[in-house]
Amino acid sequence: MTRYGLIGKPLSHSFSQRYFNDKFKREGLRDHRYDLFELDDIAQLPQLFDDAPDLRGLNVTVPFKQSVIPYLHEVDALSAAVGAVNTIRIVDGRLTGHNTDVEGFRRTLLPMLHGAKPRALVLGSGGASRAVAYVLKESGIKFRVVSRERSRGDMTYDLLEPIVVDVCRLIINTTPLGMHPETKALPPLPYDAIGSHHTLIDLVYNPAQTAFLREGSLRGAATANGLHMLHAQADASWSLWNS
Ligand SMILES: NC(=O)c1ccc[n+]([C@@H]2O[C@H](COP(=O)([O-])OP(=O)(O)OC[C@H]3O[C@@H](n4cnc5c(N)ncnc54)[C@H](OP(=O)(O)O)[C@@H]3O)[C@@H](O)[C@H]2O)c1
Repeated sequence: MTRYGLIGKPLSHSFSQRYFNDKFKREGLRDHRYDLFELDDIAQLPQLFDDAPDLRGLNVTVPFKQSVIPYLHEVDALSAAVGAVNTIRIVDGRLTGHNTDVEGFRRTLLPMLHGAKPRALVLGSGGASRAVAYVLKESGIKFRVVSRERSRGDMTYDLLEPIVVDVCRLIINTTPLGMHPETKALPPLPYDAIGSHHTLIDLVYNPAQTAFLREGSLRGAATANGLHMLHAQADASWSLWNS
């Protein structure tokens, strides 16, 4: 058996297992499977490798994309620059960290911008936020990271005056707020400052329309959820595992 999987907590929202197992079925890879490994703490990772020696690759999700790095033998140049890992390649017991969220987000963002470079707000400062920031920087888009803690971002939510939201026409939610099963939660923004010139992207894809995207849609904003990114980052992980 050739095994792959996802580590994180919680994992009940994730579509990754279905995506990969459907792919293995379609491609006749009967000896391949993809499992969910919910870990309470990243310190449980070495035990997972002892228990599952046939693992060939892992995806990493909330909240371990940064804390997993010390457990790896090496990280590639991109994940070192981003400071987060969402894909681990395992060859002869050696663990290498990669970041395919960058490619996934790039494929979501660029077709929505049509060459424009709007000022942006990135909500949240975790692992996915770093991949988003990397793509915004390489695209020449000016942005600010909004965090609950001043020390982790450029500003806190209470400083988000309507004028700031009005000027920042691209808003990206990288927090888990609104993710299944807490579907009523949404980032605390002055939503009335959002209008038809805005583009809202939510990295959450379950549910398909989060409360954040609904508020934008109601006011005429263009919106996208994280499903396209999920598929693009999964395909990029698969290419890495087979390279
Ligand atoms: N579609 C995709 O392919 C894709 C890819 C990556 C991630 N995601 C989704 O993106 C989300 C974040 O993933 P991640 O790996 O970056 O997680 P993470 O490393 O835990 O970071 C999430 C960040 O969100 C903020 N946050 C957490 N709880 C919050 C709360 N209750 N209220 C306000 N802010 C909160 C925190 O930033 P502050 O402490 O600075 O506020 C935290 O650092 C998850 O829902 C994940 O499923 C989707």
